[in-house]
Amino acid sequence: MSKLKTSFFCQSCGAQSPRWTGKCNSCGEWNTIVEEVIQLEQKGSLKASFGDRKPVVPVRISEISFNSDARINTYDQELNRVLGGGLVPGSLTLIGGEPGIGKSTLMLQVALKCADRKILYISGEESEQQIRMRAERLGIGNENCYILTETNMQAIYKHLEELLPGIIIADSIQTMQTDLIESSAGSVSQIKECAAEMQKYSKITNTPVFLIGHITKDGSLAGPKILEHMVDTVLQFEGDRNYGYRILRSLKNRFGSTSELGIYEMNDGGLREVSNPSEILLSQRDEAVSGIAIAAMVEGQRPMLIETQALVSSAVYGTPQRSATGFDVRRLNMLLAVLEKRSGFKLGHKDVFFNIAGGIRVEDPAIDLAVVAAVLSSNQDSPIDSKTCFAAEVGLSGEIRPINRVEQRISEADKLGFENIFISRYNTKGLDNKKFGITVIPVAKIEEVYRKLF
Ligand code: TYD
Ligand code: MG
Repeated sequence: MSKLKTSFFCQSCGAQSPRWTGKCNSCGEWNTIVEEVIQLEQKGSLKASFGDRKPVVPVRISEISFNSDARINTYDQELNRVLGGGLVPGSLTLIGGEPGIGKSTLMLQVALKCADRKILYISGEESEQQIRMRAERLGIGNENCYILTETNMQAIYKHLEELLPGIIIADSIQTMQTDLIESSAGSVSQIKECAAEMQKYSKITNTPVFLIGHITKDGSLAGPKILEHMVDTVLQFEGDRNYGYRILRSLKNRFGSTSELGIYEMNDGGLREVSNPSEILLSQRDEAVSGIAIAAMVEGQRPMLIETQALVSSAVYGTPQRSATGFDVRRLNMLLAVLEKRSGFKLGHKDVFFNIAGGIRVEDPAIDLAVVAAVLSSNQDSPIDSKTCFAAEVGLSGEIRPINRVEQRISEADKLGFENIFISRYNTKGLDNKKFGITVIPVAKIEEVYRKLF
């Protein structure tokens, strides 16, 4: 898309005039002047710099050459995993997140670590000195990392032509601005156009591009939704700012699964990759506390143990309150209804608060049994043994349902030194218990779990 320039033409004689008039000055006809769009000369645009793409013709899918191991290593294992095994050449990746969450830090860190190719970090937010200071803080040197503090797309192309970087990072897309559109930087049309130009550049030259984008208060990427359609991958960087942990989540990925998580810890020297997430998601406690249950989860390909916490107390107001952090509150309500109706636990007049440690969000249904156990433990005010964990879904009739990848979960729990794991009875078929040091406890009903726990 290029800048649309309009002009006024007489439909009778074709004379051009800069503004609308009732009568054509040239031929004298009335009411013949109509506004028309004229194309602006594509000076300084991508097309002028890089020419058009080769003409495309239909080809057989089997004849298209591809290289399955063409992924680029970003030297950041968490990022590689979230991207689906590395960066795909010619891909456009959008990284969103609230201000101050660490997007620039993450990307600068990647830029500094990838020493095997030229990296251009374009910043419209910080000065060269500020970026240098940050790099010093991160403590990584890289001769191949170039910094460009420019926001004008046409000027950026000139540098791209000379430098020919292997990876481009644009921080942030909201500060970029192209001459082809008149509106100010950060406006919807500017963001769209700049991203479209970046996309064109990336596809023509096969260079991977990262775009950093801010997020609005309501959590959506600022600027148009259209950005999400345009790019190949949308990553979200999130986390509680008061909490040291940051989670990189993939919302859309044309080249991999969207269920992968990357976990980092923000400290003085930048972001540290957390390769064993259970280490941070399980709080270290000396004394047993009621209302805590550990769930054996699988996020993407990676098993991890997560601590769930529930607090059940007598309702202060007429209507009991239910709230959940990191978990769907409707699912919590459903589980409470199952406990009430199928298993006879009186929770109807209790406030229930539920929380998942570490600020992470869980959608895996295998967490159900841990939620139920945490609620029962808090209601009962008796703690669950800290070496016990859970991995099963709970159905509407109070049955304990099987879940996928049960072996992976059991072996992870085993590795982390747990002694008991509750799973569904229907998950035990073909399971070789002797392989694990951990005791596998198969259950079919909530009452059974209750009897075995308390
Ligand atoms: P930044 O990457 O500037 O956030 P964004 O680009 O998403 O707006 O992150 C800034 C925050 O990170 C700031 O609060 C300080 C913190 N930080 C550290 O704790 N350690 C570090 O080594 C760095 C570079 C930043
Ligand atoms: Mg920033």
